Amino acid sequence: MTHAVPLLETRELAKSFRGLKALSGHAVQVREREIVGIIGPNGSGKSTLFNLVTGFLKPTSGAVYLRGQAITNLPPAQVSRLGIARTFQGTRLFGQLSVLDNVTAAAQLRYPSSLPGVLLGLPAAHVARQLAENTARELLALTGLEARANLRAASLPYGDGRRLEIARAMATRPALLMLDEPAAGLNLGETRALAALIASLRDRYGVAVIVIEHDMDLVMNLCERVQVLAQGQVIGEGTPAEVQASVRVREAYLGSDDAA
Ligand SMILES: Nc1ncnc2c1ncn2[C@@H]1O[C@H](COP(=O)(O)OP(=O)(O)O)[C@@H](O)[C@H]1O
Ligand SMILES: [Mg+2]
Repeated sequence: MTHAVPLLETRELAKSFRGLKALSGHAVQVREREIVGIIGPNGSGKSTLFNLVTGFLKPTSGAVYLRGQAITNLPPAQVSRLGIARTFQGTRLFGQLSVLDNVTAAAQLRYPSSLPGVLLGLPAAHVARQLAENTARELLALTGLEARANLRAASLPYGDGRRLEIARAMATRPALLMLDEPAAGLNLGETRALAALIASLRDRYGVAVIVIEHDMDLVMNLCERVQVLAQGQVIGEGTPAEVQASVRVREAYLGSDDAA
């Protein structure tokens, strides 16, 4: 039964940097359409996990599976083509390109073949560009950036830039969207709007989401399941309520200065 195979699975995943165990013995299973939160103090291995899953780092040991297929040592572009998209902890936009072109460029990664152009008897590049732009415009509308389509990305206010990154990631039509601290630097209203946006992306496109976040409000309201990391290890996992109630998690994290 295909639905028994998790969308994403890590097994015994580990990464050391010159003896420092940034992540060890990591295991997680994420189902299709699920929204999973990853929390933990600074330096607990959250971004390292994202880098290992998306091919930006090679693990010291362990494995990553996408729908049962090992993707462990694939390069980032191939992981992206297989259906995993991500954002980074810091903004990584093409500042000199327009808002629209930022998303269109990402959407074009989806149309590597010239087949539609051949079928329609049109120049393939033109057709691919048009399909990508349609996707981009739909995502700009969803992320509330439609009116800013022709502005340079660098000129956007901070909160708009963060939503543009999400639009860009979604333009590849991923099965799994991985967001690294998407609410960092956002105010309360922006953070709530972000949670609504992430939920609507899941509902509309059926995408699963893994979100690293320090904002407990966002994690507790948005995520169906939460995994807690500390010093590179999983120290707790469950529903938001279960995780909040766990003494071990409280000691390691929720009572620390990060919970403010
Ligand atoms: N490229 C790297 N080279 C050396 N050490 C790294 C590198 N990336 C992360 N680390 C270290 O690994 C640990 C986990 O980092 P990270 O995954 O970024 O934590 P988090 O995202 O949870 O704050 C930290 O001690 C960090 O300094
Ligand atoms: Mg990080």
